[in-house]
Amino acid sequence: MEFQEVLTKRRSIRKFLPREVEEEKVREIISAGLLAPSAHFREPWKIYWLTKEEKQKVVTMMKDYVERTNTSDSSILKTASVLEQASTLLLVFNTSQEDLTMDLLSIGAMMENMCLKATDLQVASLWVGNPLFVKKEICSFFSVPASWQLVGGIVLGYSEHIPSSLTRKTLEEVLRREH
Ligand SMILES: Cc1cc2nc3c(=O)[nH]c(=O)nc-3n(C[C@H](O)[C@H](O)[C@H](O)COP(=O)(O)O)c2cc1C
Repeated sequence: MEFQEVLTKRRSIRKFLPREVEEEKVREIISAGLLAPSAHFREPWKIYWLTKEEKQKVVTMMKDYVERTNTSDSSILKTASVLEQASTLLLVFNTSQEDLTMDLLSIGAMMENMCLKATDLQVASLWVGNPLFVKKEICSFFSVPASWQLVGGIVLGYSEHIPSSLTRKTLEEVLRREH
C-alpha cells in the first residue's frame, strides 16, 4: 500500500469477523514495531502474544473490575467485548528502569508502527489502553518482572467495518509559525 494511503486508512476498528490473523502476518506486524526509534536506542519493550485463553482471562479481569468498582466508565466494558471478538491481543510492557517519559514515547512509536503495518497488510487494529485498569492483575497473572510496566495493547483482527470519518485538528489549529 502507498504510504499516504496507509496513514489515512489506519483507523481504530472495534468490530471483527470471526477470522484469525495468520501467524506470519502477526510476526510481520511485530517486526515492523521493532523498527521504531527508541530513546538512547534502549528498545524498552516486551510484547506478549496472548493465547485465546489468556485473552479471555484479560476480558474477565476487565469485566470483574467494572463490577467491583462500579465505575461509570462504559468504555472499559466496550473494550472488553472488542477483545473478546478479536483474533489477537498483543500486550506491550515497558522494560526500562530509566527515563519513564522517553521510554513511553519510544514504545508509542513502536505501537504506532505496528498499527500502520497492520493497515498495510489489510489487518484491522485497535490500540487499547483500557487493559491498564487491571494492570496489577495482568502483571501478576503473567508473572512479569516487578520492574516492568504494562503500557497498552494492540488488538488485531479482520473486519469489514468502515468507521465513520473523524474531523481531525487542522494544520492551522495546531501549528505556530511566525515566519
Ligand atoms: C494510548 C491509546 C489508548 C487507547 N485506548 C483505547 C481503548 O482502550 N479502547 C478503544 O476502543 N480505543 C482506544 N484507543 C483508540 C482511540 O480511541 C482512537 O485512536 C481515537 O478515537 C481516534 O480514532 P482512530 O484511531 O480511528 O483515528 C486508544 C488510542 C490510544 C492512542
